[in-house]
Amino acid sequence: MTESVLDGRNAIVTGAGAGIGRATALRLATGGARVLVADLDAEAAENVAGEIRASGGTALTVAGDLSHQEVADEVVSAATEGLGGIDILVNNAGIMDDLSATADVSDAVWERLLRVDLTAPFLLTRAALPAMLEQGRGSIVFTASEASLRGSASGTAYTVAKHGLVGLVRSTAVMYRERGIRANAVAPGGTATSISVDPTGSPAGPTALGNYAANIGRVAEPSELAAAIAFLASDAASNISGAILPVDNGWSAV
Ligand SMILES: NC(=O)c1ccc[n+]([C@@H]2O[C@H](COP(=O)([O-])OP(=O)(O)OC[C@H]3O[C@@H](n4cnc5c(N)ncnc54)[C@H](O)[C@@H]3O)[C@@H](O)[C@H]2O)c1
Repeated sequence: MTESVLDGRNAIVTGAGAGIGRATALRLATGGARVLVADLDAEAAENVAGEIRASGGTALTVAGDLSHQEVADEVVSAATEGLGGIDILVNNAGIMDDLSATADVSDAVWERLLRVDLTAPFLLTRAALPAMLEQGRGSIVFTASEASLRGSASGTAYTVAKHGLVGLVRSTAVMYRERGIRANAVAPGGTATSISVDPTGSPAGPTALGNYAANIGRVAEPSELAAAIAFLASDAASNISGAILPVDNGWSAV
């Protein structure tokens, strides 16, 4: 992909304070995009925006919990008013569950996982679409998961939330395909970020998943996910919509 593919594009990246989101924000900025860095962690968001500005790029931040509509609305306002529009939306922010199996999933884990990993991307997509539709162009990329593709990559709540994202990607891709909007997802396998759970935290987790963990393969660097997200976000992927792209060193092929 040439650097100019993203020149002048306005991009929102959620969960951009760390891990895959941070790598994506930096990658899009390097490609010439102006970036709205959104994260729960205000200091982390400022640090990433500072990195982008130090390299000559343009970045703004919004700090807050994206599972609330008012934070999603603030992100959209900041992008439209502060950057000048929304060409790219990367719905990346997410949390892990405690690897609990169906009978052991607490109400708290279920509600929070569905809220952060599924409802939040929906809220922001819904809020951002009018600006994209007005300009007749928009690329939305979701960070799904190996757990979007199979039942053996995490606990039940995370697996359900990430499977739900696949529906959001496909429905959005179909509903807006005649209006210049593309929606896709990457499905990371194991990736070296700070997202983690204590595997001893839930007796149902390691027991149920232990036999499958051997298939995970090489753990990816966040930059490897960022490269795939930047591709899907760009015009280089102009005829790709509704795709769920595994970035997992072949785990999903096992
Ligand atoms: N790391 C992996 O192995 C892996 C594998 C598959 C999928 N994923 C997915 O990749 C995405 C990014 O995860 P990561 O590994 O980079 O994790 P990470 O913990 O390094 O980064 C996630 C970022 O999202 C932010 N965040 C969390 N909840 C938020 C909320 N409610 N509102 C706003 N920001 C919030 C965090 O503050 C953090 O900066 C997630 O959707 C995750 O499910 C990760």
